[in-house]
Amino acid sequence: MTVQIDHALEEIRRFRPSPEFAAQAVADEHLAEAARTDRLGFWADQARELLDWEKPFTRTLDWSNPPFAKWFDDGELNVAVNCLDRHVAAGLGDRVAIHWEGEPGDSRDITYAELTAEVKQAANVLTELGVGEGDRVAIYLPMIPEAIVSMLAVARIGAIHSVVFGGFSADSLASRIDDAEASLVITADGGYRKGKVFPLKPTVDEAIAKTAGSVQHVLVVRRGENEVPWTDGRDLWWHETVADASAQHEAQGFTAEHPLFILYTSGTTGKPKGILHTSGGYLTQVAFTHKNVFDLHPETDVYWCTADVGWITGHSYVVYGPLANGATQVVYEGTPDTPHPGRWWEIVEKYKVSILYTAPTAIRSFMKLGRQIPQAFNLRSLRLLGSVGEPINPEAWIWYRHVIGGGSIPVVDTWWQTETGAIMISALPGITDLKPGSAQVPIPGISVDILSDDGTPVEGEGGGLLVVTEPWPSMLRGIWGDPERFKETYWEKFGDKYFAGDGARRDEDGDIWLLGRVDDVMNVSGHRLSTAEIESSLVAHPWTAEAAVVGASDETTGQAVVAFVILKASQAERINDPAEASEELRRHVSAQIGAIARPRQVFIVNELPKTRSGKIMRRLLRDLAEGREIGDTTTLADTSIMQVISAQVR
Ligand code: PRX
Repeated sequence: MTVQIDHALEEIRRFRPSPEFAAQAVADEHLAEAARTDRLGFWADQARELLDWEKPFTRTLDWSNPPFAKWFDDGELNVAVNCLDRHVAAGLGDRVAIHWEGEPGDSRDITYAELTAEVKQAANVLTELGVGEGDRVAIYLPMIPEAIVSMLAVARIGAIHSVVFGGFSADSLASRIDDAEASLVITADGGYRKGKVFPLKPTVDEAIAKTAGSVQHVLVVRRGENEVPWTDGRDLWWHETVADASAQHEAQGFTAEHPLFILYTSGTTGKPKGILHTSGGYLTQVAFTHKNVFDLHPETDVYWCTADVGWITGHSYVVYGPLANGATQVVYEGTPDTPHPGRWWEIVEKYKVSILYTAPTAIRSFMKLGRQIPQAFNLRSLRLLGSVGEPINPEAWIWYRHVIGGGSIPVVDTWWQTETGAIMISALPGITDLKPGSAQVPIPGISVDILSDDGTPVEGEGGGLLVVTEPWPSMLRGIWGDPERFKETYWEKFGDKYFAGDGARRDEDGDIWLLGRVDDVMNVSGHRLSTAEIESSLVAHPWTAEAAVVGASDETTGQAVVAFVILKASQAERINDPAEASEELRRHVSAQIGAIARPRQVFIVNELPKTRSGKIMRRLLRDLAEGREIGDTTTLADTSIMQVISAQVR
């Protein structure tokens, strides 16, 4: 019995790579050795080997003005050409780039030659619409091929894309359009989700009406066939413009530090940050990690990353990494359980997927449904599994490896962030002994450490703060329009070391275990949400006087949003059923930010726990939300308050 408890508390399982896997593995010991001996030389070699440069670079890293790094900055390249034209020129035009699967069951196979031609057409249309180098284009699309075509067309002409996840609300879209001053929005009439068409174009119209007026045109893909409002002169159909445009397009090179995209992510304040990534360094590290962490053999593998292009995982491991490496991949439009709960496994069987990259939340929800669902399909094509977005608990890791992977294939847990652009910590399949629950080791060429609050390295098993100690090629180059916030958020704490915002510990083998965020950022289903953003949405509701939000642990989604709200006295009298107020506030947050931000619970309370200086003690609310004994309350202004709140919550 004691032994079992020990197993549960401290994960001690280890899995050595099979000799067969190791023998064919892409990554080898030399990589790590080369990176250790000459880190910058290693990255320069990767940049030259993995990418085609219009003008070769001679400088690898310029770190003379930290935290503003420049990588390969006297070199020039075109990102889209690296993802497309060069593969066609190398005779791979007939290789399938995308096996696209629509939710209703329609599908399209798109070769590299076809994808290249469509990107060239779209690039010509963008230019005709007046979009030029450095201009911002917002992309608000479902997971359809045109999302990928749009991103690459923007990159091809040296413009900057800002993809906004299709689940975000009109308000969220409007604030992102305004912050980036986007001149073009690319959207669709609607997309499929859970068997229904959800409209997108009407949300775009609603958003544009709220912006300061930067948008000149809206390019609309027809997908849902739903009726949409139309503004003549401003709105254009994709099928009436792109399909008719010339497929001739000469791409020019841009400097390696030319901005490639902005992607908004939640921070500790109410306002999302526009994370800026540039071209040469970003593409180098995404291509390197996609090849080595996923053991990519592009001639034979079929790769599938289930992320939406609205998130960083979709940018780096649906669009740029796989396409730069000439991979064949699956892109699926819909939800995992439509029209039946085995849909993903049906897709794996249909396309003989060999590499699958997904999030622990998805794995845990499949675990709940039971192994009989995946077991009804032939999953023997799978040879590598990846996980991303949140810590994967050892039980989910083991289930993933056994039930999905058949028991013997590698599972790589990859730690990284919107800001890091590419994978930073992961096992290298074929080399690293795998340890369920640990993200394990920094990839070659990446240096991380774990520090205490005062900046001293934490030795041994004690936990601390995860930092990246040296600049890396795919690092964020800043926050759009806000260099001060960039410095403050990531660099002020430890000088020239990047503060990731995650807690971590290192075990006696040197393997890293992630312990969750140390700031007010929540991680729900692998998506980042800010407590402050949801709180400000709640207080914007006319019924709310005060609100506090916490991320409480949740069996399926990792964390869940739990809110505590004090109603205005005038309202509290009027509303006799707290359940009604709670439902209304959940709906309100979902409408204001997007469905992913909808609180799991909204508790209507009379008080919030505050310190003498008036600061809300979220730690105590988290204890309550997680059903734990309430922690130390001695710093509260009124130490009895938690009893009152507990009684109300029950
Ligand atoms: O807390 C970490 C968690 O997700 C955060 C980054 O979120 P985002 O920028 O949305 O990017 C997610 C996809 C890369 C991190 O600060 N996180 C990400 N991967 C892992 C993880 N936590 C534990 N283990 C991981 N593998």
